[in-house]
Amino acid sequence: MLKRMGVLALATGALALALAGCGQPERTPTINESMTQVMQPEAQTIWDITSRAFNDKGDGLDAAKIPPTDWIRLAKAGRKLRDRSHILATDATKLEVRRIQDRILGEDAAHAGVRQTWDAASPRQIEAYIAANPGLFAERAKVLEQVGADLLKAAHTKDIATVYRVSSGMDAVCDGCHEKFWGTDEPPPFQAAPEPHAKDAWIKAS
Ligand code: HEC
Repeated sequence: MLKRMGVLALATGALALALAGCGQPERTPTINESMTQVMQPEAQTIWDITSRAFNDKGDGLDAAKIPPTDWIRLAKAGRKLRDRSHILATDATKLEVRRIQDRILGEDAAHAGVRQTWDAASPRQIEAYIAANPGLFAERAKVLEQVGADLLKAAHTKDIATVYRVSSGMDAVCDGCHEKFWGTDEPPPFQAAPEPHAKDAWIKAS
């Protein structure tokens, strides 16, 4: 059954690609596509540029250290984050969630079991989190949408204080959604290392 569903998911994916190639309306990107193709690279662009532009005291940024081409890249990054967040904030349950499910059928089977605190949620869990609170998901997406808009504007006016605020606060904005809808993206805590013992203990106890 799973196998057949996997084939179906593949076929659906291929069809979506084919349609996109035929100039049909573009499908809404999955959350995963938004993260890997937009959020992560654009955030990285911002961090790369601002980390080269710290003032001598290291407590803020120096506008003179941002070359003209980087101001343009900052503006583009802001616009992309704003626009993609806007999509995430629109109809989270109806569009994004179903596609996550399509993508992950195989993964789901591989990740059966109880989620540990340091694990990311499985796609099915993410779907459930969003379905349970789509308003909060949209709210968190809108925070990033606003941050992107602020950056776009700041890049046009070379408002370095806002660029600094956006850059230094970005991580918290991303995590504001990840915490609720993905689970932690922190590595396992140190205590997690002796896990095999814990399992042994359970076997012995039973
Ligand atoms: C409105 C919610 C939301 C916001 C805001 C958000 N994310 Fe995500 N992100 C998610 C969800 C849900 C997942 C888990 C699904 C997945 O892995 O694609 C995720 C996963 C990811 C992943 C892992 C992708 C993978 O390979 O599975 C990366 C990287 C990521 N986000 C980067 C970012 C960055 C950087 C930002 C901020 C600029 C950000 N995200 C903002 C919801 C959000």
